[in-house]
Amino acid sequence: MRIIKLNAIDSTNSYLKQLIMEEFIADDTIVVANYQTQGRGQMGTTWLSDNAKNLMFSVFKDVSFLTVEQSFYISMVTSLSIIKALEQFSIPKLSIKWPNDILSENKKVCGVLIENVIKQNQLKASIIGVGLNVNQKDFNSLPNASSLHLLTGKLFSLEEVLLAIIEYLTKYIKLLKDGNYQQIKERYESLLFRKDKPSTFKDAEGTLFSGFIKSVSNSGKLQVLLEDNIIKEFDLKEVTLLY
Ligand code: BTN
Repeated sequence: MRIIKLNAIDSTNSYLKQLIMEEFIADDTIVVANYQTQGRGQMGTTWLSDNAKNLMFSVFKDVSFLTVEQSFYISMVTSLSIIKALEQFSIPKLSIKWPNDILSENKKVCGVLIENVIKQNQLKASIIGVGLNVNQKDFNSLPNASSLHLLTGKLFSLEEVLLAIIEYLTKYIKLLKDGNYQQIKERYESLLFRKDKPSTFKDAEGTLFSGFIKSVSNSGKLQVLLEDNIIKEFDLKEVTLLY
């Protein structure tokens, strides 16, 4: 494991991408920064974080043992590793808001941005970017966000939390490599936020509809049981879970 510690950077994901183009990158290279000037979130959003209060890091993982179709398993093991680490720090009521937001007490504490390296249709590696709100004290404009500090009243060592996540990620990637797909998927699904609960969604056109989250497909689509008893699959661009 090699940890590259930076003070400020545009984005740890972008930095790793740049490194990949310039030099050989060993498995488990980690880039961690105190501050990002252009932190990126899913679907082209921005990831904002107070300076030196939170964890912002990206891990380079060789995932060439997976096919492109199996790439959602990287998302699943990442979410599960973060949950395991947070359980170790006694963070209450953890769940995964599909595809990989980590919630505690229904508030988002962590976001994940996974960018895969695919060459000639083969999955080579993955850049797993994690933004975890650790010691930040207020989220003025983000009523649905929280931090480990706000949830527990404690201050945490960023290093300790980082190492715990990395340790679990290594274990889960090994489980994946050993072919424990079913076990991983079942555990992921059991932690899904609002699973089997009547929920309201918004589709890409902005139309609201109701349904029940049942599971995810192997490719990571959300499977929702609709009112007419039909299960429909949605990808990230097609649906937003409202409540
Ligand atoms: C999301 O919830 O939309 C995903 C947020 C991911 C943020 C992390 S912070 C470290 C890494 N570098 C980035 O630019 N983004 C990810």
